[in-house]
Amino acid sequence: MSAFSKIVRLFFRLAQNIGGEVAGEKNIAPELASCARELAAEGIVLLKNDGALPIGDDEVALFGRVQQDYFCVGYGSGGDVKAPYKVNLVQGLKGVGIKLNPEVDKYYRDWCASNIPDEGFWGHWPMCFEEAPIADELVRKASQSAKTAIAVIGRAAGEDREQKLEKGSFYLTDGEIEMLDKVTKAFDKVVLVIDAGNIIDLSFLEGYGDKISAVLYAFQGGMESGNAVADVISGRVNPSGRLTDTIARTYSDYPSSENFGNKKFNNYCEDIYVGYRYFETFARECVLFPFGYGLSYTDFATSCVFDCDLENKRFEVEATIVNTGKRAGKEVVQVYVEMPQGRLGKPLRSLVGFKKTALIGAGEADNATISVALADIASYDDGGLTGNPSCFVLEQGEYRVYVGSNAREAQLVGKFSLDETIVVKEAEEICPPDKKHAFEVLYPKGESGEFTKGYRPVATRTSDLRERIEARLPSALVSRVKMSFGEVRRGERTLSEFVATLSDEDLESLTHGDLKMNSPLGAIGNAGAFGGITEQLRKKGVPPVTVTDGPSGIRLNSYASLLPSGTAIASSFNEELAERLYSLVAVEMNEKGTQMLLAPGMNLHRDPLCGRNFEYFSEDPLVSGKIAAAVVRGVQSGGVSACPKHFACNNQETARAKNDSRVSERALRELYFKSFEICIKESKPLCIMTSYNKINGVYSYHNYDLATTLLRKEWGYEGLVITDWWTKRAKNPNFKGVDDNAYRIRAQVDVLMPGGGSRLSGKYSHSARLAYGKGFKRSELQRSAENTLRFILNCKATKDKIG
Ligand code: BGC
Repeated sequence: MSAFSKIVRLFFRLAQNIGGEVAGEKNIAPELASCARELAAEGIVLLKNDGALPIGDDEVALFGRVQQDYFCVGYGSGGDVKAPYKVNLVQGLKGVGIKLNPEVDKYYRDWCASNIPDEGFWGHWPMCFEEAPIADELVRKASQSAKTAIAVIGRAAGEDREQKLEKGSFYLTDGEIEMLDKVTKAFDKVVLVIDAGNIIDLSFLEGYGDKISAVLYAFQGGMESGNAVADVISGRVNPSGRLTDTIARTYSDYPSSENFGNKKFNNYCEDIYVGYRYFETFARECVLFPFGYGLSYTDFATSCVFDCDLENKRFEVEATIVNTGKRAGKEVVQVYVEMPQGRLGKPLRSLVGFKKTALIGAGEADNATISVALADIASYDDGGLTGNPSCFVLEQGEYRVYVGSNAREAQLVGKFSLDETIVVKEAEEICPPDKKHAFEVLYPKGESGEFTKGYRPVATRTSDLRERIEARLPSALVSRVKMSFGEVRRGERTLSEFVATLSDEDLESLTHGDLKMNSPLGAIGNAGAFGGITEQLRKKGVPPVTVTDGPSGIRLNSYASLLPSGTAIASSFNEELAERLYSLVAVEMNEKGTQMLLAPGMNLHRDPLCGRNFEYFSEDPLVSGKIAAAVVRGVQSGGVSACPKHFACNNQETARAKNDSRVSERALRELYFKSFEICIKESKPLCIMTSYNKINGVYSYHNYDLATTLLRKEWGYEGLVITDWWTKRAKNPNFKGVDDNAYRIRAQVDVLMPGGGSRLSGKYSHSARLAYGKGFKRSELQRSAENTLRFILNCKATKDKIG
């Protein structure tokens, strides 16, 4: 590592107050390790197989230096777990008894030992490792004893580390191409393993044609990565992962590509046409592998009974899945709808339900019933095109329901018609684009099946935010009786009574964290603490809450399980297994003394280059919402809290702390908010984290519509809202002088994390109390303080600590 790298790395460690020796035992609960392995394996997607997989007893030659230096996870807060071990591909394959060609094995072992990669530092981590050169003679000799070659290519991206349109990131390096050329020339059977968190360019596969016999997309599988890939390669596990993103032929085929990565703002011109919603409607020919796609070592035949109950506004698909092949396997039943174009325009396919089957033995069958409420598939009319502005509507016309194993191949199983447009819910306008920053959004023009891309002006704000806020300011809680928080816990007093007794200082302390990461109030290496952060609050019985990252496991200065990446978990489509894994993580959290896991990360994969896609789940809001709900249920079953993040539209890492996501309200409600809505309604997270970015001009952490009107009023959320780490100062355009922290608390973003001296805001001086007299009210501080205290009461692990 260069001296420069060392200095910069030290700087980042100090800034985060994290560093020092890793503490504790390397023990991981065996059931957690085996569950992580099972889930990582279920998240692997078999993209191609001409029979080369599974590998039998024959010798295999393993190529690619990543076999040793395997990328088990991406970078940043969602990857920085002190894993007790990481199983690479060589170890995994040997572990399941696959015979590796000894010369090739030795060559890579020696080469990697003398070419140890520089691990880089925050935001400058390596996205690939230099490929090992291989001699023609080595390859030729190996091909004489080994029937099959496995070639592995690895990539990583992360927080503050966007995937780039460069060789070694989105594209293969010259070294990797050379390796593939040599291997495909010498071997009849070549299995390609892609070890990555993001989708990378796969157009090179077309060039190799039949020379590459099988392709596995192995989304980073955490500490059990190598074991999971080996399980699939050896056939111990029959692959059942499905793509949660569309893989397009070239990057420029993705509809976000023209607007991704701008520093100041991003116009989401593709509107609701993200991922397969775009490709199936406008550009079917650009798809290499469709959303939902994934092969198995067996075959399934699915038949369906469709039933529509228009009176109760639901439809149901009862699928029978027969394993017609020779091996036991699991199928993912996917239900899509095609809605009438109406006045709003709709994608030709929208996923409305899915179910992973149990393991079905050869010749056996399983059933899956998927029931869909029409209200859940309604479209949002942001501009009043149907005559119903700010309403969720089901437009008049024919609805077709398709079932199958991916977005492209799903077959029509039933249809129903609505004679007139139905309003299923009247809503309030939420963070719409501002007139000054209007842009045009995509819609399907012309006839179904031959749509061309039309653009029309985005609907802009019509409501008055100032009026809305003023009319809804909370009233003050008043009390003179002294009491402790313990009395509230015991049910002797109400929470509101207790909040009413708190001083301004106490209230304010409950609305920010303990100033820095690695708070002395929590386990070493924590991301922060909040709650009882002052002596005074602790005397009243309020305990501090320890908070730790993140989606890939507990990030502390002690050993903890490194979990499969978000995309791997989602690709399993297995909600039950995801829930089970995180219930085991909850046990680990209790052992380590952390009460909140800053997970799941659940922003949508709007663009394949987003550095944090590995932490997130999918381009689809239903998959993201359902898998996130499973994670939350798992964590919270152990009496600790999850914290879904980043609410909302943190869809790129470039300038994430100041970027403005300019999005139509329709796309927000049908996609970017939808995933959170599903998660919140299905799993009741105790806490949510806002994003760094602005949404239509307002930072998420200052956004009243987001944290109050939508989250609390419309969705009925009763939990806590915290910021992402550090915020920027900002003037409130609607209320002069109610700026910075007062602006945030007025929005009901309750707790500033980690709370103090910051990279983003410069210094912590902008106390909310300074805005008293400028219209900011004590009752607003009370409301957020009450949310913090309610969190402590609702989370078993913190409730037990109340004095
Ligand atoms: C990330 C969050 C993370 C937090 C604490 C931020 O930089 O965006 O996802 O939870 O840091 O580490």
